[in-house]
Amino acid sequence: MKSHSIILIALAACLVSMVVLFGCEGPQGPAGQNADTTYAGTFEGFAPGIKCANCHNPDIDTTYYLWARRYQWERSKHAYGGDLERNGPDCAGCHTTEGLIERWKNHWPMVQTVGAKNNPSPPGCFACHSPHSRGNFTLRDMDAVTIKSFVSGVPDASFNYGPGNMCVRCHQTRTTSPMSPVPNPARTAPTDTISITSSRWYPHYGVQGQMLIGTGGFQFVGYTYRNSIHSTNAGIRGEGCPVCHMASQSYPPDLGTGRGGGHTMKIRYSSDETESDTLFIVTGCNQSDCHGAGGFSKTTLLAAEKPVQDSLQTLETLLIQRGWLTTSLTVNASTSRPLKIAPEAKSGALFNYFFVEHDLSRGIHNTKYAQDLLNSSLQTLRTP
Ligand code: HEC
Ligand code: HEC
Ligand code: HEC
Ligand code: HEC
Ligand code: HEC
Repeated sequence: MKSHSIILIALAACLVSMVVLFGCEGPQGPAGQNADTTYAGTFEGFAPGIKCANCHNPDIDTTYYLWARRYQWERSKHAYGGDLERNGPDCAGCHTTEGLIERWKNHWPMVQTVGAKNNPSPPGCFACHSPHSRGNFTLRDMDAVTIKSFVSGVPDASFNYGPGNMCVRCHQTRTTSPMSPVPNPARTAPTDTISITSSRWYPHYGVQGQMLIGTGGFQFVGYTYRNSIHSTNAGIRGEGCPVCHMASQSYPPDLGTGRGGGHTMKIRYSSDETESDTLFIVTGCNQSDCHGAGGFSKTTLLAAEKPVQDSLQTLETLLIQRGWLTTSLTVNASTSRPLKIAPEAKSGALFNYFFVEHDLSRGIHNTKYAQDLLNSSLQTLRTP
């Protein structure tokens, strides 16, 4: 082939893609989920009359700021976390966009049928939104979420915090988690023994929804467990996780210069790649119906985190001393070498260690609940 015909072909290809992307209307597809029946997979079609450039051209898109949002998302752990290879049927539903879409399509079963795919992508725009089929950035689902309880006798929780419900579709316990057996607060007799056989004896990582509500921890009989104002505050009830993590009601794309707030989902962030500094977005904290202007700064936020951090550290030390926790902070158990704890209820201290640690907010989500869980766990370990 002569070089000028290659150039011509390239030009023609260029024109075609420009026609597609630059402002003309897209293919007229029926609206709604799974409308396009020519695709066996999850392709959801294009909304009728959709204008591609409204989103895809930075000079035209002054509504969605897609390019700014994508820049932020690329700096979120959703994008770079690297756990997207967890794409088997048990894991893909939360760790990949493809798995999430499948789970949504099938009304949120935990286990997938076609979860295992090659080249999965991490939770991206099409996980939380369906921009092509809807022509906008509404959230894929806002229904209340049922979170499975992993403490015997405690009912499953219903999480209903507006847009935060979308977060908790993934940031919740896993029904097929290796956690077995489930601890029971009522088993307090010296002969009640629990036999733990997994080094990962916890209900997976995303416990933030339960912590915010004030449920899901191991509540020892005879103690009271309080909740911080975060559980019931109207702004948090209405907006959920985004009110703090995405920084403000209107999610200004330039707050946090693309490295904190917005779609980075970060409250703690750094102004550069080398992490030379530690900054905090406290815009969410300082709204008028919350802590008010100037209510929180980096200093006061860190001070609020300290008591929970200290108690968690003490609990960790005690658990290692007992030999329940290894120095690499996993449960000191395996199938061939079960960890036996009696009375069973004392295992709640180990359970609560992981519950508070995996919440990752250093207590902020629900300081009182976290502190009460830790205090009662410490007290339990200190009494013979
Ligand atoms: C409501 C916003 C919106 C509209 C309108 C829109 N897109 Fe997209 N599109 C997105 C988002 C968000 C992504 C994923 C983020 C990215 O890669 O920039 C995307 C990604 C793409 C991609 C990259 C391939 C991929 O799978 O990620 C192509 C190609 C594309 N869109 C084509 C189109 C075409 C053609 C139209 C018009 C028919 C269109 N888009 C209209 C939001 C939109
Ligand atoms: C599709 C499932 C899914 C949804 C929906 C989701 N997340 Fe995540 N999130 C994850 C996964 C998976 C990770 C860990 C990524 C990794 O390690 O690869 C994560 C990580 C995070 C982290 C970083 C945690 C850390 O260890 O530093 C934050 C913060 C976060 N998510 C907040 C949110 C918020 C806020 C929402 C709702 C606006 C949300 N997520 C919605 C799956 C999801
Ligand atoms: C219900 C949704 C869900 C399912 C199903 C799920 N995960 Fe996760 N997983 C998450 C979320 C959310 C996070 C991030 C939590 C955080 O950092 O706050 C996460 C984090 C992780 C991490 C990172 C932990 C760390 O310390 O950084 C690993 C590893 C992981 N998951 C493995 C798996 C495996 C393996 C499976 C399947 C057997 C699986 N996950 C199934 C939601 C899920
Ligand atoms: C983990 C979930 C999640 C992911 C991934 C995600 N978003 Fe969002 N997005 C949200 C939430 C939550 C909101 C706030 C929605 C609300 O309050 O109704 C939002 C809001 C938006 C808005 C503002 C909507 C409006 O009407 O003002 C845009 C635009 C947007 N997202 C674009 C994107 C783009 C582009 C990507 C991919 C680069 C993306 N989102 C990825 C959760 C997500
Ligand atoms: C009241 C504000 C607020 C609400 C509401 C909130 N968070 Fe947080 N979250 C925080 C703060 C503050 C931290 C700790 C920041 C730090 O010190 O690093 C945090 C930490 C986290 C972390 C650890 C990773 C990180 O970036 O620090 C995850 C994951 C997380 N939150 C997810 C969620 C999810 C999911 C929800 C909704 C169920 C939620 N949060 C609701 C304020 C909030």
